[in-house]
Amino acid sequence: MMSCLFCYLLLIVILFIDKMVDLSASLSGVKFGNPTVLPAGILGVAASSLARIASAGAGAVTTKSVGPERREGHKNPVVVAVDNGLLNAVGLSCPGLDESVEELKKAVRAAHVPVIASFYGRTVEEFGLVAERISAAKPAFIEANISCPNIEDEYGKPFGTSCELAARVVAVVKDMSRVPLIVKLTPNVSDIKNIALSVEEAGADCIAAVNTVGPGMYIDVLSAKPVLSNRAGGLSGPAIRPIAVRCVYDIYEAVDIPIIGMGGISSGRDAAEMLLAGASAVGIGTAVWTRGDGVFKEVCAELGKIMEERGDRSLKDLIGKAHC
Ligand SMILES: Cc1cc2nc3c(=O)[nH]c(=O)nc-3n(C[C@H](O)[C@H](O)[C@H](O)COP(=O)(O)O)c2cc1C
Repeated sequence: MMSCLFCYLLLIVILFIDKMVDLSASLSGVKFGNPTVLPAGILGVAASSLARIASAGAGAVTTKSVGPERREGHKNPVVVAVDNGLLNAVGLSCPGLDESVEELKKAVRAAHVPVIASFYGRTVEEFGLVAERISAAKPAFIEANISCPNIEDEYGKPFGTSCELAARVVAVVKDMSRVPLIVKLTPNVSDIKNIALSVEEAGADCIAAVNTVGPGMYIDVLSAKPVLSNRAGGLSGPAIRPIAVRCVYDIYEAVDIPIIGMGGISSGRDAAEMLLAGASAVGIGTAVWTRGDGVFKEVCAELGKIMEERGDRSLKDLIGKAHC
């Protein structure tokens, strides 16, 4: 009688485990408990904020981009809410490299998930120097933000708009650091496939796509002035999601390295769509402002339900499946 009951219970447990979907992800050999990632800049560089988001359920967390020197950034207002998104022009404010590295060390100790250290340089060489310094803090990845303005170029275009410059940044960074490298791409280019291919060929381990779209502008009609102190800023949030999905779809067709897809993801459906386009993990940025810290767990629960409905067992059943 007892053994029958035991067999019955065992069968129920087996059936339950069999139905469970596996949300774990693996990017360049680094394991994530789930595919959600806090993208760069959404919550600054403070270790306490990153640890809070890790505890709230993010699979990985990214610091704000740090650079070689202390930088004030733009005056307030630096963020304004627009229909279905945010416009921001923070101006790459940075507490300085020494302080950033100390904070990064604390974040690596405090967050129980992989920490991604985002950084920028004003020249190709500076990218290498900053990469070397932040790598000493032992993050799981370093992330080169090649979407920020490039002061080498007289037109002030980001490094990520030129295949040649993007590849040079990657080559220099790979020379200076052994930590796996993510390269963050801008969607503001006519052919993102070639940029992605160039960074892969130069040695990037992973791609993050996309940074903000634009720049865009929001004018206050009573004062007749642009609201952002910088006048124009980058657009994020649901308004850019179709562009981000198309970019990730294009990149997936061009490269073999994994992609962290981001841009307007705020639900399990959005995450599933990005994975189908070819992402191996998904960034959730602006939705932290609109849905709160709980968004990571909520998106995972919603994604799990969609996967159950589809009969998926793991993320592999979704990744890139929108490509025939
Ligand atoms: C306020 C704010 C600050 C940002 N700062 C950075 C940054 O420092 N470095 C970077 O690579 N991206 C930065 N981004 C871009 C985000 O990491 C992300 O790529 C973009 O917002 C798209 O994702 P989302 O629509 O989920 O927010 C920032 C975005 C926002 C809204």
